[in-house]
Amino acid sequence: MKSVVCILSIFLIALSCKKDGQIEPVETLTFVSLEAPVNFPEIQLNNSNPLSIEGIELGRKLYYDTILSSTGKSCSSCHLQTSSFTENSSNSQSHVNLIWNQYFLRNGQIEGTLEDAMMFEVESFFHTDISKLNQDPLYPKLFKKVFGKAEITSKEVAYALAQFLSTLISSNSKFDSYLKGQTMLNSSELNGLDIFLTERGDCFHCHSVGLMGDNSFHNIGLDLTFNSLNWGRYAVTMNEVDKGKFKTPSLRNVEFSGPYMHDGRFSSLEEVVEFYNSGVQVTAYTDPIMTKPGKEFGLQLSNQDKIDLVNFLKALSDTSFLNNTKFSKP
Ligand code: HEC
Ligand code: HEC
Repeated sequence: MKSVVCILSIFLIALSCKKDGQIEPVETLTFVSLEAPVNFPEIQLNNSNPLSIEGIELGRKLYYDTILSSTGKSCSSCHLQTSSFTENSSNSQSHVNLIWNQYFLRNGQIEGTLEDAMMFEVESFFHTDISKLNQDPLYPKLFKKVFGKAEITSKEVAYALAQFLSTLISSNSKFDSYLKGQTMLNSSELNGLDIFLTERGDCFHCHSVGLMGDNSFHNIGLDLTFNSLNWGRYAVTMNEVDKGKFKTPSLRNVEFSGPYMHDGRFSSLEEVVEFYNSGVQVTAYTDPIMTKPGKEFGLQLSNQDKIDLVNFLKALSDTSFLNNTKFSKP
């Protein structure tokens, strides 16, 4: 009998709390976790920004909302889902598997978590007028629910965006199914994979299997001379050896993320492959992998090899990611 009363009174307290609006906001959130797909490194979740369905949805709404900028733009203006969240004319970077990134932007100007990157986007890139959000009829309620605070600051905007971006995980390409033994690659893709994974192409050193990037910076021999337009990592570190180094992009959905390289100099994957085959420039800054013995005359790929390497790159496309309605405009 005693315990029944106890349960009853707890129930009453809970009810009365709700009436007074005293309930801690966390209790109404649905927390979620992210799991690393096969062949991916562990996910380091940010404990200061626990993922919730509500937080992810808020981030998604913000991502597609022009309220963040004073120029009528939203994030999605330059990051289109159908192009793996890139956009052709701005040569923006793709948003795929960013939760594993430690460096953001091509020169790695932002080092840290996705939350840090989003602080930069909101404060320094968009100069978001937060008062517009605070005056909005809907946003203050949504933010209150997720972060439990009456007032919105750039931190909460960045955290919500980071929650959404951390869910943009692509791990469902033909190559992934092949690695899991669920699909065969055709003979062309298999030869492309062999070039990719062996000394023939040496691609895997930087585009490692799983993320298809390496969270690092390399000078791949695109240019002979360096100035402020192609300094890359050097612009951040001012360390001579970093001249012409850029962040290794993930090759996931690369079929849809052109134009290619930091300056968008190549418009097709065929051009990129021809660059690696015969166009690498040798300077004191070029990565040793690109210039190691045996590569004096380039990779010496046959025409069929080049076609096969492109076909392998296309086996990294994940249409379920590009069409996932959870990522589209709400
Ligand atoms: C006017 C076009 C434009 C808009 C709008 C825009 N971006 Fe970008 N974004 C870019 C470009 C261009 C780059 C690549 C910058 C570079 O070369 O380093 C980029 C890079 C990024 C990166 C780095 C990815 C990586 O792999 O390092 C992130 C993250 C990002 N944007 C998020 C956002 C978010 C969030 C918003 C909205 C708040 C946004 N962007 C709005 C053009 C844009
Ligand atoms: C030494 C490291 C390294 C090696 C080896 C390497 N890459 Fe890259 N790759 C990079 C870097 C760094 C970039 C970005 C350069 C830039 O932004 O200017 C890049 C860019 C690319 C791009 C363009 C992606 C985009 O979104 O712009 C493709 C495609 C690509 N590499 C494929 C390959 C293939 C295929 C091979 C093997 C033949 C290969 N890479 C070997 C480091 C490497």
